[in-house]
Amino acid sequence: MSSPYNETVMEHFRHPRNVGKIEDADGKALEGSPACGDMVSVHIKVDPNTNIIDDIKFESYGCASNIATGSIITEMAKGKTLAEARKISWLQASDALGGLPKVKAHCSVLAIEGLRSAITNYEERHGLVNEKVPTTIALIRKRLRKVMNPMAGLDLVHTNLVQDIELKDGNVRIVITLPPNHQFAAAIKSEITEKIEPLWDVKELTVEFVE
Ligand code: FES
Repeated sequence: MSSPYNETVMEHFRHPRNVGKIEDADGKALEGSPACGDMVSVHIKVDPNTNIIDDIKFESYGCASNIATGSIITEMAKGKTLAEARKISWLQASDALGGLPKVKAHCSVLAIEGLRSAITNYEERHGLVNEKVPTTIALIRKRLRKVMNPMAGLDLVHTNLVQDIELKDGNVRIVITLPPNHQFAAAIKSEITEKIEPLWDVKELTVEFVE
């Protein structure tokens, strides 16, 4: 059977650039695809004076299309400002790779979302968010859709693990339906913290696990 991927895609898939983590990253994100359950992480190092991405690394747990896109967009983003890197589109990534199969669009979009989320994470942590939209329960729920339930390969919301979300005066309480001593509880809690805590008006976050 012939491969759906061209030579450039295969080359990036076999030898992906910028793979790994940055220990003292300034911005980071872990994005999961609700379509397939795969994940991609993106770490960035940013020059605070110029907002230029000095270093970027990614790790992919997805397919060839996802890995090749992660590879090409990290190359494209390095040396760009946060605003420029945020504009990198699926089409540009696909063009740079000589074309990606359309059926695999969600895989490459996942890599791009990972990059954009890492940028957002940096901006939120450094007070660079322009429109200060007040946090709502709907927004919190939307972010929890990006946190994977490792048991199911789908996000917490889709798998009904979010039992309750409370929001009052900047205090957020999230209740997850899992035993507190569950093997994935700590990992889920740290991912929730990473997504919710940087929101500009969140003062305190409590994540509770109840059976
Ligand atoms: Fe999941 Fe491609 S099938 S990232």
